[in-house]
Amino acid sequence: MGTTERARDIYDPDFVRDVFDRCSAAYRYWSHIASFGFVFLWRPHCVDQMPGPLPDGAVGMDLMAGTGEAWPYLLRRRAGIASITAVDISSGMIRRAVDRLHRSRVDKIELIEANVLDNTLPAASADFIISAFGLKTFNESQQRQLACEMARLLKRGGAFSLIEASDPKGWALRGLYRFYLDRVLPLIEKTVLRGAQDFAMLGVYTRHFGDCGYFARCLADAGLDVELKVFFFGCATGVVGRKP
Ligand SMILES: C[S@@+](CC[C@H](N)C(=O)[O-])C[C@H]1O[C@@H](n2cnc3c(N)ncnc32)[C@H](O)[C@@H]1O
Repeated sequence: MGTTERARDIYDPDFVRDVFDRCSAAYRYWSHIASFGFVFLWRPHCVDQMPGPLPDGAVGMDLMAGTGEAWPYLLRRRAGIASITAVDISSGMIRRAVDRLHRSRVDKIELIEANVLDNTLPAASADFIISAFGLKTFNESQQRQLACEMARLLKRGGAFSLIEASDPKGWALRGLYRFYLDRVLPLIEKTVLRGAQDFAMLGVYTRHFGDCGYFARCLADAGLDVELKVFFFGCATGVVGRKP
């Protein structure tokens, strides 16, 4: 464990919010670099894997929405969406999301700045829930809480799809991949961005997160039908399913 990890609880929502507030200006570009551009594949995968079709006039949620990178895919690739409620804890990320709201989307998206584990959204109000790369900053007890929250928010028959960068245990090139995440990216951040090691924290979260296996079990325990998905040798994993 590094000094930052020892000094503070990295899963404290205030800590997570501050990390993303500081990352927000460069987040979009960094997510491309950190994933070798795979985010361009994985976000649409996440949208396409969600069981369908959605009902006409579907209302749904993008949890840990960040700067709203998933919205163009959702609105282009899934017919019938009337509105998306986007939830994020970081005012910096939300501000960037507002900047990214194009005229054609502004009437379809409602932004809520909140901790998803402490929200006031109504029960059984979502036809779908989506989340891309928003799971890694939750520890196991928070993942269990999130699974219960999703079961509460979804309508009966409601669909969900979440994806997260993962640690590809067992992949022959895992060593190289980890070297890139753990050594090269922090070095780039230090020399190019010359800021705090906030993006390096994203590598730390990914290492601790492992994969979506534990979260899949939490969702099943919360009463949801769930399937675990593995992408590109386990460099990303996802959960998809429905509320029966
Ligand atoms: C890695 S970013 C992902 C953003 C976006 N979904 C994407 O596709 O790039 C994770 C986001 O989760 C948000 N987040 C972390 N913990 C949260 C919580 N407890 N409640 C709401 N948002 C949270 C962060 O502020 C950040 O914007």
